[in-house]
Amino acid sequence: MKKYLIAGNWKMNLLQNDAQIFGNNLNNELLNRNLSDSEVLVCAPFTNLFTLKNIQNETLWALGAQNMHFADSGAYTGEVSPLMLKDAGCEYVILGHSERRQYFGEDNELLTKKINSALHHSLKPIFCIGETIEERNNNITFDILHHQLEVLKNVEPHQISNITIAYEPVWAIGTGLTANSKQIAEVHSWINNYLQINFSTSLKILYGGSMNAGNSAEILAIDNVSGGLIGGASLKLDQFLQIVDNAIQLT
Ligand code: PGA
Repeated sequence: MKKYLIAGNWKMNLLQNDAQIFGNNLNNELLNRNLSDSEVLVCAPFTNLFTLKNIQNETLWALGAQNMHFADSGAYTGEVSPLMLKDAGCEYVILGHSERRQYFGEDNELLTKKINSALHHSLKPIFCIGETIEERNNNITFDILHHQLEVLKNVEPHQISNITIAYEPVWAIGTGLTANSKQIAEVHSWINNYLQINFSTSLKILYGGSMNAGNSAEILAIDNVSGGLIGGASLKLDQFLQIVDNAIQLT
């Protein structure tokens, strides 16, 4: 039986008041559901973390951040450390999101430091990988994913099991285009094989990229898909809950 992780990535959206309303309603709605072994996660902007921590029913949903610096503290103006995320109630942190790679130049070297730092502080990384449309059209999707996954070879073996992978084709993020079931099945199976061959393990592999209330049941049912990383559709509680409900129905 699958155990799903349904993770919202709010990106740079929602002010404190919206976050408070969302968090309180999420508490109430999830109380009426039987999540069994599936998990719900909200990855919020830094400014909303303490607000959410203070209202969160921890038995129902987890809190995460969308990025962090690798250092514990220091002269890094504008950055936020893993210790600060722990302090603000985070259990998870998204690392290597394609928007971080694209707009902030995050590469394997930096992401190796970030993942190891997160693990050292018992934060669970959601490590994002994915190809652009040019890379897919040039038939180098698996070369790109292979290169991005090389980061995991610099993680202490006993920590690998604390990582979640998110496959997010860049061309499907925020575009309304989702990868089709065949494409998702092919990539998730390839990632699962990669993990088996290199680390003799399976990890949760989330799909991300325009997942919504309407397409989530089909996507979540695909082999080796163990949840979703949801951007736009996670900002509306009713849509997010519909995805959670679809996951519950599949367990
Ligand atoms: P989207 O974003 O659901 O809005 O496509 C997903 C993500 O970037 O994590």
